[in-house]
Amino acid sequence: MEVDLHLDDPVHRMIVAPTGGGKSFFVGAMVEQLYEKRHPFIIFDTKNQNHIGLVELPGVKLFQVNPAKIRKSGKLDLRSLNEYPYILCIPANRNIDIKDLLDVYREIMNYMWMQDGERIFIVEESHNYNKNSSVPDPLFERIAREGRGYDKLIWFITQRLQNFNQLLWSQCTYTYLFHFVIPSDIRYCAAMVP
Ligand SMILES: Nc1ncnc2c1ncn2[C@@H]1O[C@H](COP(=O)(O)OP(=O)(O)OP(=O)(O)O)[C@@H](O)[C@H]1O
Ligand SMILES: [Mg+2]
Repeated sequence: MEVDLHLDDPVHRMIVAPTGGGKSFFVGAMVEQLYEKRHPFIIFDTKNQNHIGLVELPGVKLFQVNPAKIRKSGKLDLRSLNEYPYILCIPANRNIDIKDLLDVYREIMNYMWMQDGERIFIVEESHNYNKNSSVPDPLFERIAREGRGYDKLIWFITQRLQNFNQLLWSQCTYTYLFHFVIPSDIRYCAAMVP
């Protein structure tokens, strides 16, 4: 049975589950529907296997990010990357420092934010971008507050709501919660969700 996830709704979304809770699996299924509906997306993943199956779909561009190489050559061709409607960004190997990876991801996001046209930013481990849970990443905040007007939407994927910025969450129309078993987590969600 295919559930209607209202993927044509131009809204931000929040996907939360503890590790192994099924976030990536669920998002993968949603992205397949996005693809069928021809909504342009870019996935920023911190692991390389999560969404690799999507690459089998015609027209999905795999971008393997190697920050050291980009730094050395000074080459990050954002313009040609932006020409692809469906993009999966992954680290080129396991040794890549997460901070270096996110710096490249931020640069890509910044560039795409400035371009015309629709784009859905799908961000795995999105808590990593915020300085801490009370200080949102400035670009996230911009996209969350103003993105809808520019056809730019964001999906935050994270492990624990308590560790995620509340302002960003409050901008998400839909929240998907999986495998919430820790009592304090359940109480927190129950108190926050109307
Ligand atoms: N609805 C489902 N039906 C069948 N298998 C599932 C389902 N959801 C998740 N799985 C399986 O459970 C495992 C963990 O799921 P997944 O990788 O999506 O978790 P995750 O929340 O993204 O974890 P992490 O925080 O570690 O990234 C995977 O092997 C996945 O194939
Ligand atoms: Mg995952």
